[in-house]
Amino acid sequence: MVADLLASMAEESVPRTETGTLLGDLRANARLVRETLSDPRQGRLFKAVIAASTWDTRTAEALHRSYEIRVAEWSPCVTRAVEQGELPPDTDPAELIRAVSAPLYYRLLTTSAPLDEAAHGLSRVRSGAGGGKVAGAWFADVGDTHPMARRVSVPEMVGRRAELAVLDALLPGDTRLVLVDGDAGVGKTRLVQAFVARVGGRATVLRGGCLQFEADIPYAPFAEALPDLFGEEATGAPTGDRVAAYRRVAEAVTRAGDLVVLVLEDLHWADASTRDLLRHLHRALADADVLIVATCRSDELTADHPVATLVTELARSPRTERLHLDPLDRPGVAALARAVLDAEPAPDLVDQLVARAEGNPFFTEELLAAWPGSGDVPRTVRDIVLTRLARLSKNAQHLARLASVAGRTVPHDLLQGLGALPEDELGTALRELVDHGQLTTAGSDAYAFRHALIHESLYRDLLPGERRAATPASPGTSPTTPSWPDRDPRRVPPPSSPTTGTPRATRPARSPRRSRRLRPRSTGSRRPRRTPTTSVPWAGGGRPPNVPRGSPTTRSSSAPRRPRASPATTSARSS
Ligand SMILES: Nc1ncnc2c1ncn2[C@@H]1O[C@H](COP(=O)(O)OP(=O)(O)OP(=O)(O)O)[C@@H](O)[C@H]1O
Ligand SMILES: [Mg+2]
Repeated sequence: MVADLLASMAEESVPRTETGTLLGDLRANARLVRETLSDPRQGRLFKAVIAASTWDTRTAEALHRSYEIRVAEWSPCVTRAVEQGELPPDTDPAELIRAVSAPLYYRLLTTSAPLDEAAHGLSRVRSGAGGGKVAGAWFADVGDTHPMARRVSVPEMVGRRAELAVLDALLPGDTRLVLVDGDAGVGKTRLVQAFVARVGGRATVLRGGCLQFEADIPYAPFAEALPDLFGEEATGAPTGDRVAAYRRVAEAVTRAGDLVVLVLEDLHWADASTRDLLRHLHRALADADVLIVATCRSDELTADHPVATLVTELARSPRTERLHLDPLDRPGVAALARAVLDAEPAPDLVDQLVARAEGNPFFTEELLAAWPGSGDVPRTVRDIVLTRLARLSKNAQHLARLASVAGRTVPHDLLQGLGALPEDELGTALRELVDHGQLTTAGSDAYAFRHALIHESLYRDLLPGERRAATPASPGTSPTTPSWPDRDPRRVPPPSSPTTGTPRATRPARSPRRSRRLRPRSTGSRRPRRTPTTSVPWAGGGRPPNVPRGSPTTRSSSAPRRPRASPATTSARSS
């Protein structure tokens, strides 16, 4: 009797509403479910039948069949959205329909709050369902090993117009060094990439990055930026005495073009040799048409950090500018969410993103990617990264963890040489990691973690045994085992302990939460911060030429300023 009743209720329920848009259809579906469950008689009946289905198989089957009828009725609106390209091709229509009503059933069964107060849940449903690519990819993969949104980064940069204008105005000019600083993931690299793209044919761009782990690769970013000078077999410094070598580096930079932009990424990891050479170049290139753009995580620098000392020193020069990147403000977060979701995010979704990601674009992207699949949004990026990884196949997870020991970039040969997976499984796992945004390809023979924080999270999560397992034999011990590369500054060899010869624990990066405590400056507020600016040094005391009103104020380090405990910081603010 119950079976017949449920089947006829499902069949006779109001037919699907076609509103013309996916969101409209899903909203209509959610409204119908809400009305059904809010109905005093039907709501009670559903509760009773759901309870009975937990111990009576025939009731469970009847309930299941009645849902399948409803799901089949509404699935075509999702199928149509897939056909029209609104959702990814691998979207599972039935799963999406089920997920739309799931929060309402949850409320019905777990609280006695009236369902018309479930608008909160509905708006969340709206956000998830509207999140085309994100929700689609996730829903398609429920219970599968490929559950994540494939795209988390967006092609268009959100905001930062003022900061770009500041950088534009510095080229060409008297400034030789601009330090772009801000928290991990705030968008320093993204901004510099956008600047470099705008510089276009106007300047020659050289790029190099500092290394994360303690590694005996001196001058790493310069070796990466100037491969011809440092050579394929470079051991670090150019040959000859140090002054002559420095001079050759300065000459190589100026010879690279009439106007040169030298990008040095991740200065917070600069080793002593890199710091010394940068000091030298800053002086030696005083009159050259060269702009060095260095990015630096401000949340990595403790007051006594050697790079903090370097920054303070360089900042005293009239040829240095500092550009501090604040987190995105609320409109910026909303714009980023809109771009990722391809739909207007619900206000409560934006509220939660602002509260948890604190305007950090990387955190925001990661939260958006994990959102539909997580019962509870992870509180830290590390959790997000591990949660995302846990949804991949065991092989992919294993490989990602092993790869994290090699550094941000890992050559294919190295992964192959570890012998952790047979060749065909290795290829499949790598493809999965790339498809799911954990790794990107780096050139023709290597992979890189999509973001430093993904790499760091995995590395921090390793057990000591896993770290050892991922460490290949020392170079030369086996002709078939590839050695840890010693040349590419992006590939990091695990240093050996001088006493035991076993790999010394490499320095895992601090999690964003931990490192925040180590900041030299006060960070009490969770709101996007604005560093106080003491003066504006441009000639005439105003803004630099070409910088629109309302742009971030930049401050030359030559300007008189109050004594301060930590290195002076130029402030910029943008969404
Ligand atoms: N303004 C923006 N608009 C859109 N996406 C952004 C923006 N800023 C950053 N992102 C995205 O956020 C993520 C982190 O940005 P990015 O790598 O530039 O941070 P970072 O400050 O360089 O971090 P790290 O200190 O780890 O190097 C990237 O996926 C990037 O594409
Ligand atoms: Mg960066």
